[in-house]
Amino acid sequence: MNNNVFKKLSYGVYIVACEYNGKYTGCTVNSIMQITSDPAIIALSVNHENYTHVCIEETKKFSISILSEQSNPLAIGTFGFRSGRDCNKFDIIPYDIKNSLPVIKDACAYLICELKGKIDTHSHTVYIAEVIDGDVLNDIKPMTYEYYHNVIKGKSPKTAPTYIKE
Ligand SMILES: Cc1cc2nc3c(=O)[nH]c(=O)nc-3n(C[C@H](O)[C@H](O)[C@H](O)COP(=O)(O)O)c2cc1C
Repeated sequence: MNNNVFKKLSYGVYIVACEYNGKYTGCTVNSIMQITSDPAIIALSVNHENYTHVCIEETKKFSISILSEQSNPLAIGTFGFRSGRDCNKFDIIPYDIKNSLPVIKDACAYLICELKGKIDTHSHTVYIAEVIDGDVLNDIKPMTYEYYHNVIKGKSPKTAPTYIKE
């Protein structure tokens, strides 16, 4: 099979965040898609090894910050290459609180989600969640995964579902 076929799929870049054990934490994801509109249901794939996986399992509630082309790439790196087990990522990335959950300050929109179901694979859990609130924060273009790779020259770690060994 030609693995480059997977590079033709399109995504955005997001920060998923929870409050767990009195601390805000979360990780960078690209794997979010809308499943239905009424009720509004989304799906999200999270690696079993990520601390965010534990947090979603325990709290069943999370925010999604939709990053824009002008969002600071520092958030993508901090949330995507470090673990909430070892550091408090929200200590260095500015955020606001929406529905008791953190939302990245320079995101262009956010969603508040409640877990409704899940499907397990050998490495990732696909979470199915209902969007119970959300808002648009500005009119800047949302960041695509292609923009992240080609303009920002960002990389993806092994835990990202799209990871391809170079
Ligand atoms: C651009 C990008 C996209 C990513 N997409 C996902 C994803 O969709 N699902 C996932 O589980 N991890 C994804 N990751 C990896 C996690 O963000 C990374 O493993 C993070 O360090 C986990 O942090 P945690 O242990 O605090 O949860 C992505 C990382 C980057 C940089």
